[in-house]
Order: sequence, then C-alpha cells, then structure tokens
Amino acid sequence: MTIYQGMTVTMELLFRISNWLYRKGVPVLPRLLYIFNRVVFSIVLPPSVTLGRNVSFSYSGLGIVVHARCCIGNGVTISQHVTLGGRSGLHDVPVVEDDVLIGAGAKILGPVRIGRGASIGANSVVLHDVPPFATVVGIPGKVIKTGSKAHSAVPPAPTFTS
Ligand SMILES: CC(C)(COP(=O)(O)OP(=O)(O)OC[C@H]1O[C@@H](n2cnc3c(N)ncnc32)[C@H](O)[C@@H]1OP(=O)(O)O)[C@@H](O)C(=O)NCCC(=O)NCCS
Repeated sequence: MTIYQGMTVTMELLFRISNWLYRKGVPVLPRLLYIFNRVVFSIVLPPSVTLGRNVSFSYSGLGIVVHARCCIGNGVTISQHVTLGGRSGLHDVPVVEDDVLIGAGAKILGPVRIGRGASIGANSVVLHDVPPFATVVGIPGKVIKTGSKAHSAVPPAPTFTS
C-alpha cells in the first residue's frame, strides 16, 4: 500500500467510525473524528453523510466539501476540490447515485440528483438533475453526452512508488 492509499484508507476509516458512532447517538466523538479529518486531510465530510461502498476520494479527499445531508451512492469517484452543497433558499441537497464520476473542482449545488453512471466535468457547476450516464460540463452545467458508457476520464492519482 502506498502512502497516498494509506492516507485515503485512514481518512475513510475515520469517517466510517464517526458515521457509525453518529448513528448510534454517541455524542462528541463523531465530531472530533470529523474535525481530525478536516484538519489533517482537508476534507469536510460530516458524520451524518450517507456514503455508499467503494467511494473513491482523490488525494485522500483534498479540498472536498460535502453537506451534512448529502447521499452518495456506491462506486462514486470524487476528485479533489469538489463541493456537494446547498443553494441559498433551497432546503434539499445533492443526491449522487451509484458509479458517478465527479471531476476536479466541480460544484453540485442544491436539490440535485446525479443519475447513475453520470460524469461531471472538472470545474462544472451543476444546478439541475443529471440523467443516468450523461456527461455534464460547464457553468452552469449542460449535458454534452447521453447514453450508457463506462467512464475513465479521471486519471489515477500518482502513487510515488518508484
Ligand atoms: C467531463 C469529462 C468526464 C468528459 O470526458 P469525455 O467523455 O472523454 O469527453 P471529451 O474529452 O471527449 O470532451 C467532450 C467535449 O467536452 C468538453 N469538455 C470536456 N471536459 C470539460 C470540462 N471539464 N469543462 C468544459 N468543457 C469540457 C471538451 O472540450 C469537448 O468539447 P468539444 O466536443 O467542443 O471539443 C472529462 O473531460 C472531465 O472533465 N473529467 C474529469 C477530469 C478530472 O477531474 N481530472 C482530475 C485530475 S487530478
């Protein structure tokens, strides 16, 4: 296991523990783990977030901000500096279905559902629902591709093993 992988595993493990403690109603400790992740890994991932399995956080979550009520499905890839958050005046927050790819710096804001297998381009600002397997880019985000496909548009993070 590389240092990068170890950092990501540690960050996610701390989140999983904080999430479990939060759901059991344990006070204080979930918040402390959340703060540790925020300080050490620069990720804002509150204990109340619903996070699926096999979610991949680029660069151990660097700069990622997730609203406390967000739901993130299985197999989602979240690149660095992504925000999943609220929009002023609107209560609901993003739901990200399975196998979505979210490019670096993308912002997904408000009551938005990102359909399964969709790709969100780097630095996009998504304000509306995205159909399954669609590709969205730009500000505001617009669908540029539709249909089913396996995405591979985010290169793996460097591992520095050599
Ligand atoms: C959105 C994305 C998934 C699309 O990948 P793709 O399906 O291979 O699409 P293409 O590269 O063929 O681009 C299709 C069109 O969208 C445009 N485009 C692609 N990504 C874009 C982006 N982030 N913002 C604006 N336009 C974008 C391309 O210029 C192209 O336009 P054109 O047809 O007018 O030439 C990909 O470009 C992307 O942004 N991936 C995330 C990369 C990332 O975050 N890397 C992190 C590295 S650490």
